[in-house]
Amino acid sequence: MSETVELTVQKPVGLTVTPHDNGFGAEIGGIDLTKSIRDADFAWVHKAFLDYKVLVFRAQKLDDEAHHRLARYFGELEGHINKSTRHQALPKIQIFSNVKEDGSTTGEHPEKGTLVWHTDKSYVATPSLTTILRSPAIASVGGDTLFADMTRAYYNLSTETRARIDGMAAVHDWKRSREKSKERPATAEEIAAAPPVVHPMVRTHPETGLKAIYLGNHASHIVDMAIDEGEALISELEAHATQSEYIYRHKWQVDDVLMWDNRCTMHCVEPYDATKERRIVHRVVVKGDKPL
Ligand code: OGA
Ligand code: MN
Repeated sequence: MSETVELTVQKPVGLTVTPHDNGFGAEIGGIDLTKSIRDADFAWVHKAFLDYKVLVFRAQKLDDEAHHRLARYFGELEGHINKSTRHQALPKIQIFSNVKEDGSTTGEHPEKGTLVWHTDKSYVATPSLTTILRSPAIASVGGDTLFADMTRAYYNLSTETRARIDGMAAVHDWKRSREKSKERPATAEEIAAAPPVVHPMVRTHPETGLKAIYLGNHASHIVDMAIDEGEALISELEAHATQSEYIYRHKWQVDDVLMWDNRCTMHCVEPYDATKERRIVHRVVVKGDKPL
């Protein structure tokens, strides 16, 4: 498989792209995301996004407006089905926080579904292309965000397993996903807005043409397979894909901006002590295509 995208425009002087050691994820330097991004810079940021799947930008003092603007370079923003975590004034921004208005902690992780491996919004027909987070407050212990490279994981499966799963499809279901992660049950309004959907278990990336395993906690079972057998196969594939060789562990610094390609990765947050630590992330999500 060819892993890098070719560009005709030269890399702008000053912009740095530093891939992580295992080639999964990269840190981008020499760019100020509080300002508009020049075309040539964006072309290289976009190339790095496709080549490395997870991008880290350090020391970016973004406000909500700059956060929106960055996301709009990648596509159309979309709000979240869970209205309780929406920013009051800016509905396209979601806040995951364990900090109350008076500064004390809630004692609970804000969205327990984030603690288990998933890919964002796979429970809708056109799941998220990218999610972009910024971190006004980070945990001192725990709270790392982990990513799994589902493209590498796919191509490292045996030929027989690839042939077996290539034509399979899975049901993704918001209601079931919340039951599995022991979150508050889905409301009737949420269930109506996000009925179960079917996606291929192996999807082809619309921009790179590479395949990736497409599962995660929102996947409930496999079409045309007994429920328990499907759950077991999903668990087996996820256990394969989350071995250390496919993982990037993001250790947060205040003012990081972190974004990832939901079409070919899974992610989860490491638990932290939600009574002691204060952790706040702001997130925006860009709408993607129907998985094919
Ligand atoms: C998300 C998510 C991870 C985190 O924003 O989609 O899963 O680190 N969050 O909070
Ligand atoms: Mn997520």
